[in-house]
Amino acid sequence: EGGATVIAIDGPAGSGKSSVARAVARELGFQFLDTGAAYRALTWLILERGGDTDDEATVLASLGALDTLELTIDASGQRVAIAGHDVTEAIRTERISAAVAGVARTLPAREAVNVRFRAIIAAADPGIVAEGRDITTVVAPDADVRVLLTADEAVRIRRRFGDVGGDEQQVGARLSARDASDSRVIDFLHAADGVTVVDSTDLTFDETVDAIVRLATEERHD
Ligand code: CDP
Ligand code: CDP
Repeated sequence: EGGATVIAIDGPAGSGKSSVARAVARELGFQFLDTGAAYRALTWLILERGGDTDDEATVLASLGALDTLELTIDASGQRVAIAGHDVTEAIRTERISAAVAGVARTLPAREAVNVRFRAIIAAADPGIVAEGRDITTVVAPDADVRVLLTADEAVRIRRRFGDVGGDEQQVGARLSARDASDSRVIDFLHAADGVTVVDSTDLTFDETVDAIVRLATEERHD
């Protein structure tokens, strides 16, 4: 079997997708694609321009800026820029998380970012780990390894709270609300055919990384 190895990981907020995917990529010497960063960068730009992500026309008008989107796919460092602004840190705030749904439910926005993602995946060398909500099903359904990374909601909320701090109840309410609105657009709560569920509820970070690395290693020996 020739060509790059593609590992696709989907799952709800706080399941460990981006941190685990990055560690898997580092361990295997692969590239790393955080697809949520593209949705977050578009959201940042719309808010920066005083727009409302719930207004579909505003979202559509922002899509031209995708030409300026820079996504670092090197697993060791991550940089996200749009329209000349480095937004690496700015896209991680609650303000962005709260507004991203309007972008995510706009189908032309999904199609436009997917074109970028598929080009990145097609050019990957020697492999890539891509994570998001629809990688195993829409972006890269032919990936060599397809994983749905889950964890009980209470555990995911505790992890996210550990990362962002603030009011745990509010963190929990926002995470639940985002999962609910995201799952109306794309089903990432159930594994599609051929997708392996990795439940990280009772796994340490390293055990979660190992579980996915093992799937990739098995795949290579098939
Ligand atoms: O890290 P976290 O799970 O909190 O979110 P993220 O992966 O950064 O994604 C941010 C938002 O982008 C999600 O809440 C989805 O609305 C959207 N998204 C999507 O619709 N499809 C993807 N493949 C990735 C993200
Ligand atoms: O990208 P996503 O929202 O799915 O999750 P993340 O931001 O990568 O992970 C959320 C937090 O959970 C991070 O601090 C991870 O280190 C942590 N985590 C953990 O404690 N145990 C695991 N088995 C997996 C992730």
